[in-house]
Amino acid sequence: MPELSSPARIVVLVSGSGTNLQALLDACAESSYGARVVAVGADRDGIEGLARADRAGIPTFVARVEDYSSRDHWNRALSDKVAAFEPDLVVSAGFMKLVSADFLEQFLTLNTHPALCPSFPGMHGPRDALEHGVKVTGATLFVVDAGVDTGPIVAQVPVEVREDDDVEALHERIKTAERAMLVDAVGRIARGGISVEGRRVRIGAGAR
Ligand code: GRF
Repeated sequence: MPELSSPARIVVLVSGSGTNLQALLDACAESSYGARVVAVGADRDGIEGLARADRAGIPTFVARVEDYSSRDHWNRALSDKVAAFEPDLVVSAGFMKLVSADFLEQFLTLNTHPALCPSFPGMHGPRDALEHGVKVTGATLFVVDAGVDTGPIVAQVPVEVREDDDVEALHERIKTAERAMLVDAVGRIARGGISVEGRRVRIGAGAR
């Protein structure tokens, strides 16, 4: 892993409400955190995630699949838009698109998933955990690879499933834990580096 900038430059990708993004923006307001969100990108217009970036004075960009002649063209456009901000790290925080292999070669990309990987991958982690009847679920931060929520695990946090939970209540409780996990892990990476060897991820001392 090459040396990170100081503060580390982060591009965050969002598709929705952007509460994970907001948690990162709030953390980055402290210079001791060691990271800076240099841009926020989205695959759609008019979302609260972009409004949060606007309010924080952070540049935004949008790449909508439907505006490109092919998915491949969109992939390249997304890469170019991200590359313009020279990030050390890309954080996909509720971004609802899979990115290409080329993108992943170009940028170290982390994603947060609202379940304890490798359980319950895909779009409905909280629902699937509830339907399966697990008593503990949680959130996972991982290095994105070619699969769906399959990459090397950076951090995880457990969340208890309550008997009266519905999907929304469970997901909201997961998101509270998820935001804290994301802020903690991204800060430690920004300050101490990250190394990924096979499936083993190390953060901090000696990882750079
Ligand atoms: C998070 O739970 C994320 O893991 C999932 O969608 C949610 C996004 O929330 N993929 P937000 O947009 O950060 O509020």
